Amino acid sequence: MGRNKRVLFTGGAGKAGRHVIPWLLDRGHRIVNVDLKPLDHSGVDNLRADITDSGQMFNAMTSYAGFDEMEPGTGVPRFDAVVHFAAIPRILIEPDNETFRVNTIGTYNVIEAAVKLGIRKIIIASSETTYGICFADGRADPASLPLDEDYDVDPMDSYGLSKVVNERTARAFQKRSGFDIYALRIGNVIEPHEYATLFPRWFEQPETRRRNAFCYIDARDLGQIVDLCLEKDGLGYQVFNAGNDTNGMNRPTAELAARYFPGVPVTRSMDENEALFSNRKIRQVLGFAEQHDWRRYVAG
Ligand SMILES: NC(=O)c1ccc[n+]([C@@H]2O[C@H](COP(=O)([O-])OP(=O)(O)OC[C@H]3O[C@@H](n4cnc5c(N)ncnc54)[C@H](O)[C@@H]3O)[C@@H](O)[C@H]2O)c1
Repeated sequence: MGRNKRVLFTGGAGKAGRHVIPWLLDRGHRIVNVDLKPLDHSGVDNLRADITDSGQMFNAMTSYAGFDEMEPGTGVPRFDAVVHFAAIPRILIEPDNETFRVNTIGTYNVIEAAVKLGIRKIIIASSETTYGICFADGRADPASLPLDEDYDVDPMDSYGLSKVVNERTARAFQKRSGFDIYALRIGNVIEPHEYATLFPRWFEQPETRRRNAFCYIDARDLGQIVDLCLEKDGLGYQVFNAGNDTNGMNRPTAELAARYFPGVPVTRSMDENEALFSNRKIRQVLGFAEQHDWRRYVAG
């Protein structure tokens, strides 16, 4: 497998990026973190830039990764890939219009610069919230379960909508360029230290996890998924759910579906604990093999 890709990573100082980037470094990739704040991790190059400024994105993508790249005297190398995670990561951090603006304009700017500069692999962070349950006003039921990538996503909030728009932006630029642009509908990201604090509470109050359809993605397993996307060429425009194999809950899938989504059709047979936020596509298409089942860290 080809390694040592030169990767521009936006938003790498955040909750997800600070675990994904170490994984990518371990796999031999060179990473430039483009963010408003730096990631303090050995081996990462940082460039402070704002995704809502198109000029800064074109500039960042045509910059040296570090001083060492000035030595050969052969100019600035091209990035092999862009991984775009920078965003306002949910509603109720900034006003709704600002969340929508930063996420949609930022993603447009990043993808446009990458495509026009000939960077042929682009991976963007979409979200489980596109399925419309998470930030709905009231109790929203999905049209069917499990949630898989061909679902007609229909959120009613500014954040989920911004991610749907971003998927369309990705699709338009893929159609124009023929490059590979993959959107990861990322599940609820769990950092290693969060198993002990969050999961026992969730097990006591399953209802609080209904809005996430009981999904989770270990931040390190998300690193594996991003690396697999970097390695897998030629798929054009793709949407992938990025979640772990089973629900982040200590009850069987059939019980969760019947109790928390009564009346919602379950469209295929599912394994005993198989995630309602289906990760079948990343397992089948990318060869994802989870390493961080919650059962390794929390007693069921
Ligand atoms: N955390 C989750 O559970 C989750 C779930 C689904 C999807 N996502 C998506 O995954 C991505 C990463 O999420 P996270 O939890 O790490 O978020 P985070 O807020 O922890 O990190 C986002 C990073 O983006 C940077 N950023 C924000 N605005 C910027 C701008 N204008 N220019 C440059 N950088 C900017 C921030 O400084 C931060 O470091 C986001 O796109 C988010 O929407 C996250």
